[in-house]
Amino acid sequence: MCSNPDTSYIAFAPLQGYTDAVYRRAHWECVGGVDEYYTPFVRIEKGEVRKKDLRDTDPVANAGVPTVPQVIAVGGDEFARLCDALQGQGWRRIDLNVGCPFPMQVRAGRGSGLLQHPDRMEEIQHEMLRRPEVQFSVKMRLGQESEAEGLAAMPIVNAMPLVHVTLHPRLGRQQYKGMADREAFARFAEVCRHPMVYNGDIEVVENWTGLKLRGVMLGRGLLARPWMLGDKDPREVLRAMHSIVYRHATSALCGDSQMLARLHAFWEYVDLPYKQKKAIMKATTLRRYDEAVAAAL
Ligand SMILES: Cc1cc2nc3c(=O)[nH]c(=O)nc-3n(C[C@H](O)[C@H](O)[C@H](O)COP(=O)(O)O)c2cc1C
Repeated sequence: MCSNPDTSYIAFAPLQGYTDAVYRRAHWECVGGVDEYYTPFVRIEKGEVRKKDLRDTDPVANAGVPTVPQVIAVGGDEFARLCDALQGQGWRRIDLNVGCPFPMQVRAGRGSGLLQHPDRMEEIQHEMLRRPEVQFSVKMRLGQESEAEGLAAMPIVNAMPLVHVTLHPRLGRQQYKGMADREAFARFAEVCRHPMVYNGDIEVVENWTGLKLRGVMLGRGLLARPWMLGDKDPREVLRAMHSIVYRHATSALCGDSQMLARLHAFWEYVDLPYKQKKAIMKATTLRRYDEAVAAAL
């Protein structure tokens, strides 16, 4: 699948609202081919580590699935509290989000906004050094407003004890517009002392000759074609994954609208013929939804 020996590591990107513990397990059990699944970020809200996020990182919910919990923090104190909560659950591997472009997080100085605050990144670096029992990684963008911000942060990133740095080569202010900038990725790889993982706009697994890479992280491409790392028939994969997500949604959630919100998220990015997808996404009752899914699969 990956003929370049430098790119042996494949990660499933965190996608808030899509890759929850149930989805990650469904993918792992039905397809696999992924070395690590990253959780959507765990955050502090109203002074507390969000309970909902900690349910998603619950070791029981993730048992047997190679999972990396991710945190988003504004500085050393928040980072320490998030690490305490995750280490308390037993985790010894934590990823730091320095790339989220959502304006609310950026304005608060988190995600790609953190790249504009080297002093706070340094606090986080010190906090990492206090926890030698944990393997850390960083997932970052090129900068919030300019590539210069990300490059200026690289000495601090280099001083962090990291297993790798995942770089999504866009600016935070671009959100998801434009194309991921592979030349900018190469400029960061030149100055980064850690192994690098490439992330951004990968639709099929490619041969990454020429770039020194530990591997690749796949997000929307894998949501669209969750079968792409295996050799099973796409419909068979969708049927198997959907039945796991469906069983969970219809037993753990209440009422058609909550269930349908979770189930529609399963299909939102999936590569399906237009008419089949429209029928699924338009269904407003579980009965209609079941009929549309049966027709598609
Ligand atoms: C809906 C959505 C939710 C996301 N949530 C997260 C998140 O919680 N943490 C994170 O690091 N990145 C998050 N991302 C970014 C993705 O992990 C990934 O970096 C981005 O989609 C680019 O990779 P891709 O082109 O392979 O999808 C999110 C992206 C989308 C579209």
